[in-house]
Amino acid sequence: MKLFSKIEEVRIVPVVVFNNASETIPTLNAMKEGGLPVAEICYRTECAPECLKIAVSHFKDDFVIGAGTVINEQQAKEAISLGAQFIVSPGLSVSVAKVCKENNIPYFPGVATPTEIMQAIELGIKIVKFFPASVYGGIKAINALGAAFPQIKFLPTGGVGPDNLPEFLSNKKIYACGGSWMMKGTPEDIKNKCKEAIDIVKGAK
Ligand code: 3PG
Repeated sequence: MKLFSKIEEVRIVPVVVFNNASETIPTLNAMKEGGLPVAEICYRTECAPECLKIAVSHFKDDFVIGAGTVINEQQAKEAISLGAQFIVSPGLSVSVAKVCKENNIPYFPGVATPTEIMQAIELGIKIVKFFPASVYGGIKAINALGAAFPQIKFLPTGGVGPDNLPEFLSNKKIYACGGSWMMKGTPEDIKNKCKEAIDIVKGAK
């Protein structure tokens, strides 16, 4: 599945944290049924590599699957070798950026300051994760940073949810919104929250 066009279409990057590899298939099925076939599988739990492997082997034709919370080059190399199509970090890592560039894989580093955005620009990056978005000033901060860096688009994550999603999505500086709000509860809950998120995206167009 073409990464940029799919993320641009759905405009949401679900932050997915698995506690057990057995959750992978039911969760991704629920997301698919809910119309949100994008998953940032986070390297926050031990089972993350296994979940990524399962996700890629079962869903790679229907889903855009990436790895999140990637904090060093070993994790980046592993995630890419397991089939991750994009890499996200909570902060900016030059070594992760290098691995992604060598493998021609998009890297969305976390930033919160002008200095970090300048580092991202130096690394040739055009889309940054703004994290944690609600703590660092939300849309107001994105407008201020966006004015100084017209070449940059933002992926705000952290504190994004159905209430503030319309405000974020209607802003031209926003590439897509990330978050975990739709990943709570049973597969049925996940399906319904994904549907709700997609309806909000449609309403914001
Ligand atoms: C992340 O890692 O990007 C955040 O933990 C997601 O933030 P949220 O849980 O507030 O959506």
